[in-house]
Amino acid sequence: MIKYMKPLIVGNWKMNPANLKEAKELFDSVKKGVKNTKAEVVICPPFLYLDQLKGLTLGAQNVSFELRGAFTGQISATQLKDLGVEYVIVGHSESRKYLHETNEDVNKKLQAVLDAGMTPILCVGEREDEDRDEILKQQIPQGISDIVIAYEPVWAVGTGKNCQPEDVKAAIAIIKSLVQDARVLYGGSVKADNAKQYLEITDGLLIGGASLIAEEFIKIIEMAE
Ligand code: PGA
Repeated sequence: MIKYMKPLIVGNWKMNPANLKEAKELFDSVKKGVKNTKAEVVICPPFLYLDQLKGLTLGAQNVSFELRGAFTGQISATQLKDLGVEYVIVGHSESRKYLHETNEDVNKKLQAVLDAGMTPILCVGEREDEDRDEILKQQIPQGISDIVIAYEPVWAVGTGKNCQPEDVKAAIAIIKSLVQDARVLYGGSVKADNAKQYLEITDGLLIGGASLIAEEFIKIIEMAE
């Protein structure tokens, strides 16, 4: 059971910033800015910075579904857990697209994250030419609970195009009918000037581009309280 319903604000740094020095500066600015926040803040930096950033809850951007062994270039759930990581993004549209992850792969990752004692952030959402409800049904496995689901219409991620709040509301209703005890976030071109409308109808936000600008990210977190 998910026991508390603080708004959850997740920053997905993707393959940014360019070096450790900048990563530390960004992280420290956010940390200072959210010291007294009542929201739950999670930062998902690139893997190699996870061990270097302390003082805010950490999430990873992906994970292998394998436990250990000859899987060059991959990182396991237990390795992440060992570093103190608490959340793991699985099924991000960029991983589905560039790493060709299938729903089956994503489901195995979800299970690996749960087995390691972390919380998955399962990203779901349709492309522009797809039927939203059909895709949500395909992407959300049956019988799971205690996870975070981020509704991220693919066409809204990193494009500056926003999903209408009434469409987000409808997607959330479908998601909540498919999975029990999920915290449902919205993601897709969320900025300080449009965050409020999504905060009112969701359990939180998954933020890419705007999480790389400390002041803007902090502003959104302040709105979430
Ligand atoms: P964006 O990314 O905020 O830059 O659209 C969202 C995400 O990738 O989760």
